[in-house]
Amino acid sequence: MFLILKTIWILLPSYTPNNFAVVFGGGKPIDFGKNFLDGKRLLGDGKTFRGFIFGVLGGIFIANLQYLIEIVANVKIYSVLNYTSFVLFASTLAVGSLLGDMFGSFIKRRLNIERGKPVPLLDQLDFLVFSLGLALLIFPDYFKSIFTTSIIIIAFVITPILHFLTNFIAYKLGLKEVPW
Ligand code: CTP
Ligand code: MG
Repeated sequence: MFLILKTIWILLPSYTPNNFAVVFGGGKPIDFGKNFLDGKRLLGDGKTFRGFIFGVLGGIFIANLQYLIEIVANVKIYSVLNYTSFVLFASTLAVGSLLGDMFGSFIKRRLNIERGKPVPLLDQLDFLVFSLGLALLIFPDYFKSIFTTSIIIIAFVITPILHFLTNFIAYKLGLKEVPW
């Protein structure tokens, strides 16, 4: 149980950017409304510059809160890294998360799936793969000190489950029209 909570904590800088994008997104789409070679939209209207920028900033904001909480509560998960390393690492997780989200949309458009239509597993794991992958690529040492093998395995198991649970709760609370 502790390891699951620890994994969720570690993943917050990957999880939260899309929520900020949903709240603060809109405006100019990243693909500028352009189509790909197949004549379909490159990414679609759901991927905007504002969503990307506020998503990254939101993820970094949450990460800073986490670092502060760890210092105050004397917990050592992210605070094993010094502050500068931590901010760089968390920013990489946040950027990777939104790049993965864009990649997912790119794939969905190629498969002729409309903006907003759910694709199980792709929607839940694209951001995770890119977030972890980018962090591993840019900061392999920090990555290995935070993401142990068990944390990574738990991450891939709990993320689709958490996604389903949070959406289901949002649906029951009347915040969402559909339970996915
Ligand atoms: N959003 C945004 N910019 C981003 C990511 C998300 O503005 N880079 C906003 C959009 O308003 C988007 C909403 O967050 O509609 C939900 O995000 P997501 O589920 O990722 O996009 P979808 O609209 O479902 O589009 P897609 O089918 O391409 O995933
Ligand atoms: Mg969606």
